Amino acid sequence: MSKKKFYITTPIYYPSDKLHIGHAYCTTVADALARYKRLAGYDVFFLTGSDEHGQKIQRKAQENGVSPQEYVDKIVASFRHLWEKMSISYDDFIRTSEARHHEVVQTIFQKIYDQGDIYKASYEGWYCTPCETFWLERQLSEGNCPDCGRPVELLKEESYFFRMSKYQERLLAYIEANPDFIQPTSRRNEMINFIKGGLDDLCVSRTTFDWGIPVPFDTKHVVYVWFDALTNYITAAGYLQDRGKFARYWPADIHLVGKEIVRFHAIIWPVILMALGVELPKMVYGHGWLVMEGDKMSKSKGNVIDPLVLIDEFGADAIRYFLLREIMLGSDGNFSRAALINRINADLANDLGNLLHRTVNMVGRFSGGVVFAPEAREAVDEELVRLAQDTAAEYERAMERLEVNAAVKAVWALIGRANKYIDETGPWALAKDPAKKGRLNTVLYNLAEVLRIVAILISPFMPGTTPRILRQLGLAGDAAAVSLNDAQRWGLLPAGTKMSAPEALFPRIEEKEEAESEAQQPAAPAKPALPVLPEVSIEDFAKMDLRTARVLVAEKVEKADKLLKLTVDLGGEERTIISGISQHYAPGDLVGKDVVMIVNLKPAKIRGIESRGMVLAAVDGDKLALVTAPGMEPGSKVR
Ligand code: MSP
Repeated sequence: MSKKKFYITTPIYYPSDKLHIGHAYCTTVADALARYKRLAGYDVFFLTGSDEHGQKIQRKAQENGVSPQEYVDKIVASFRHLWEKMSISYDDFIRTSEARHHEVVQTIFQKIYDQGDIYKASYEGWYCTPCETFWLERQLSEGNCPDCGRPVELLKEESYFFRMSKYQERLLAYIEANPDFIQPTSRRNEMINFIKGGLDDLCVSRTTFDWGIPVPFDTKHVVYVWFDALTNYITAAGYLQDRGKFARYWPADIHLVGKEIVRFHAIIWPVILMALGVELPKMVYGHGWLVMEGDKMSKSKGNVIDPLVLIDEFGADAIRYFLLREIMLGSDGNFSRAALINRINADLANDLGNLLHRTVNMVGRFSGGVVFAPEAREAVDEELVRLAQDTAAEYERAMERLEVNAAVKAVWALIGRANKYIDETGPWALAKDPAKKGRLNTVLYNLAEVLRIVAILISPFMPGTTPRILRQLGLAGDAAAVSLNDAQRWGLLPAGTKMSAPEALFPRIEEKEEAESEAQQPAAPAKPALPVLPEVSIEDFAKMDLRTARVLVAEKVEKADKLLKLTVDLGGEERTIISGISQHYAPGDLVGKDVVMIVNLKPAKIRGIESRGMVLAAVDGDKLALVTAPGMEPGSKVR
C-alpha cells in the first residue's frame, strides 16, 4: 500500500441527549477534511463515536427508568441517523461501551499502575457532573464550575491517581519542540501557561457509581470517564488488537475538538500516551463554537437547533455549505436562520445554480446539447483558464492549512468570475451568427470545464451536489471517482460530451414571514439614499475592535471649538480620545455615558494630544448623536 495515510478524529459525543447543530458543525468540518484528503489521494481513516460512561449518563438513564445501556443504545442510534442524513463519511464509529474498548482501557490502566504511575490515595475535591471534571477549590469560579458555571459537588472518596506531575517537563518540552501539536496558536499559548502553572496528579477512578469500565485490580472502582474516553482514539486504530492497522494509522494526524476540551487532549491525553510509550498525535486542533446570537447553545437556555429539522427543510448540502463557509475554523461563528437563507439564495441558488443552469441551457439551445472542442483563446478566456488553475492551487493550499472557509471562498470567486464571463462573451449573440460558431464553441466549452472543476472542488463540502452537477454536464456522476488532480488540470472534459437537460440545483428560499412583515411596513418617507459602499466580509468587519467605554472625564480642547478631550474607562484600561463633538454635547452631559468606540484604530495626534480610538456617532447633516450602550460594563464587545 503506497498511499499516504491520514487519520482524523472528532470528539466522541456524550449520548446524554440528541445532538445539536453545534455538534454537527465539528463533525462536518472533520468530514470535509477527510473527504478532501481522500480526493487528494490519501488513505483516510476518519473516526467518530460516542462517549457512553459516567455519572451523568447513569443519572439520565435512572430518570428515564431504563438501564444505562438501553438509554445510550437509543441515543447512539440517533447519532448514526444524523450522520447518515448529513453525509458524514466516517470509517469507524467507536462506542466506549464496546468490548474492544473495555479491553484496551483495562490493559493500559493495569500497565500504568504496574509501572507505578497510578497510585491509590484518598481524594477530596469538587466534581462537575455535566462536564465530568474534577476541580480544586482554588480553581472554582464563585464556587461553581469554571468551565460551565454550574454547581459542583464535594466528593470525598478513595481514588486512584495518575502521576501527571511526573510528566510535566517532558510535555512542555514536547509542545515547545512541536509548534503544530496544539493549534491554533492562541490555544497553544493557553496550554503552555496552564502547564507552567503546575500539573496536579489526576484522579482517574470513581466509586460513587458503576456505569463505567471497572478498574481491573479493584473492581469497586470504575475508570474516570475522560481516561476512558480519550483512549478511544487508539482503540479504534487497533492498539493491542490489530498491529498492522495501528502501525499504519497511528499517530493520528488531527484530533479536531471544541475549544473547551483542548485541555484534555493537549495535556491528559499526551501524558497517558507518554506513560504508555506510544507516539503522540500530530495535532490537536481546537475549533470555536457555533453560537446563537452570541450565546452558547445549550438545552437549558432553550436555544439549541436540531440539525435534522434544518436538513429536512433545506437539505444536508446547504447546511454543510453554510457551516463551512460562514465560520473560520478556530473562531466562534454565529448561526442564524436569516444568514443561512441568505447564503442559500445568494451563493447556492444564484451563483452556483445559475452558472450551471445558464451553461446547460445554452449548450442545449445553441449547440444541440453537445459541448464541442474549443478553438483559439482570447484574452478573456486566458484569464478564466488561469483563474481556474489558480483556484485549484489556492484551494489546496487553504485546505492543507485547515482554512476550510478560505477554500470555499476561492471556489466561489471562480464561480463569480465564470458568471461574469457569460455576460462578457454573450453566447446568445454569438449563436445568432453562423460565422461565430467556433467562438461560441470555445465559450461554452470553457464554461462547462469550469463547472467540471467546481464540481470536483466542492465534493468535500457538498458531496451530494457533485454528482448532480457532473450528471448534468454529461459526465459519470460518481463522486468517488474524481480526484484533486482532475481539478488541477484544464481541458479534461472530452469534446463531444453530451449534456443532459437542465435541472435546478438549489431552489431559492422565499421566507413568507419576512415577505409579509416587509409588506406591513409603512412606506418610508422619500429621502435620497446614501450610496452603499462596496461589500466587506464578516472577517473584514471583525477586524474592527468595537467596545463600550464609560466616559470618566470630558473637557474642552483649548483653541479648538469643535473638539472635546475624553478620558474613558475601557474596563481596566483608561484611554484619551479627541472627539469632534463639542458643538453637540456639553462636557458635563457626557460623564458617565457608555459610548461605543473603536479601540484598535491607529492612534493620531490631534492638537498635540494623542488620541487612541474614536467614539462612534450617527450623523445626519448637522445632527449628531453618539452611539451609546446604556448600562453595559465598560469594555463590552460590540458586534
Ligand atoms: N465526550 C466529550 C468528548 C470526549 S473526546 C475524547 C464531550 N462530549 S460533548 O458531547 O459534550 O461535546 C463534544 C464536542 O461538541 C466538543 O468538542 C464541543 O466543543 C462540541 N460542541 C458542543 N457544542 C458546540 C457548539 N455550540 N459549537 C461547536 N461545537 C460544540 O465533550
